[in-house]
Amino acid sequence: MYVLGLETSCDETGVAVYHARRGLLAHRLFSQIRLHAPYGGVVPELASRDHIRKLIPLIRQTLDDAGLTIRDLEGVAYTAGPGLIGALLVGASVGHSLARALNVPAIGVHHMEGHLLAPLLDNPELRPPFLALLISGGHTQLIQVDDLGAYRLLGESIDDAVGEAFDKVAKMLELGYPGGPALERVALEGNPERFRFPRPMTDRPGLDFSFSGLKTFVMNTLGKTSATSQDRADIAYAFQEAVADTLAIKCRRALRQTGLKRLVAAGGVCANRTLRRRLGEVAAHEGAQLFLPRLEFCTDNGAMIAFAGCLRLLSGQREKGEIKAQARWPLEELPPIACRAEFPLPEIAAESYPR
Ligand code: KG4
Ligand code: ZN
Repeated sequence: MYVLGLETSCDETGVAVYHARRGLLAHRLFSQIRLHAPYGGVVPELASRDHIRKLIPLIRQTLDDAGLTIRDLEGVAYTAGPGLIGALLVGASVGHSLARALNVPAIGVHHMEGHLLAPLLDNPELRPPFLALLISGGHTQLIQVDDLGAYRLLGESIDDAVGEAFDKVAKMLELGYPGGPALERVALEGNPERFRFPRPMTDRPGLDFSFSGLKTFVMNTLGKTSATSQDRADIAYAFQEAVADTLAIKCRRALRQTGLKRLVAAGGVCANRTLRRRLGEVAAHEGAQLFLPRLEFCTDNGAMIAFAGCLRLLSGQREKGEIKAQARWPLEELPPIACRAEFPLPEIAAESYPR
C-alpha cells in the first residue's frame, strides 16, 4: 500500500510516501524558519498561508522522487492534530480532497503518535511494550506504550513544554528563533564550571515535569551578569544540562517503576545531542535499550505521518466523510492499531532510504 503523508501542524510543510513493505520511498520538507524569524516565533496566520503555497508543489516533487504518479497512491494520511488549527486545516483539506478525487481512503493522524512511532522507521525490530518520552514544542510526556495505539500517560509537564522552555530561554539570551538548535550551538562554548541550575521536581516522587521555574532561574541569573556572549553561553550550557538531567532522571524513574526495558524518545527536542547522550547513559545503566529517531525525524516531518497513517490504514481505519482537524487531542483517546498479523514494519526501510 502506497501512502502519502502530509504534515502541516506548525511551521514545517512535510510530505512523504511510505509503502507497507518497501518502506520509506521519499520525503521532503519545507521549513518556514525564514518566514517567522523576524517575529521571533511562529505567526499562525502566516504559517497557514505558506502551507497553502508549498504543499501541492511539495507533493509533486515527493512523488517524482519516489518514481510514482498520483494514481499510484492507495491512501492519504494527514496530521489532524494537535497543532495550529489554520495550519492543520490546510493539510486536512488537501488530504481529503486528494483522497476523494483518487477514491482512496484518508486517515487523520495524531501528530504526537507520528513522533512516537518515528523511531520505528529506522528500528523495525522495535516492538511494544516500551516507555516513550515525547518532547516537542508543545508536549513533554512520559507514555507507557502497551501496544501500538494503546497509550497510557504516566507523567507530563504541568506548565511549559520542554521545547517551549528552550525557545523562551533562547529568546532571553537573544539567540533568535528557533531557539532549541541555537541554544545547543551556543552551549558548546559554555563553561561547565560556572553555573549549576536546579533539576525541577526531581526531589519529590512522581513523573510530572515543570520547566517554568527553570526559565525564571535563567532570567534571574542573566540579570546578575553583564550578558556578554560568554555569560550567555555559560547560562545556555547550565540550562541544557539541567533539562537533560531532569528528563534523564524521570526516564530512569519511569523505567524502574514500570519494569520496561525499552526506552523510546522522540520529538524535536530529541535532536539535542547532550540529551541523546544522557538518555543513552540512563538506558545503559538500567539495562534498557534506547531507540531514537535519526536527527531529521526528530523534528516535524512527513515521513512519520505517512508511516503512522499506513499502520492505521492497514488496520482498516479511515476517516468517514468529514474533514478532521483538532487543535487539542489527548493521545489516550486513540483507538488501538490492529494490524498485528501483517505487521508491516519496514524490514528494508533503512536500506531503501539511506541516511
Ligand atoms: O517536534 P517539533 O519539531 O515540533 C512540535 O511538534 O512542537 O519540536 C520543535 C521543538 C522546538 O521547541 C525546538 O526549539 C525544539 O523542538 N528543538 C530543540 C532542538 N531542535 C529542535 N531543542 C533542543 N535542542 C535541539 N537541538
Ligand atoms: Zn512535532
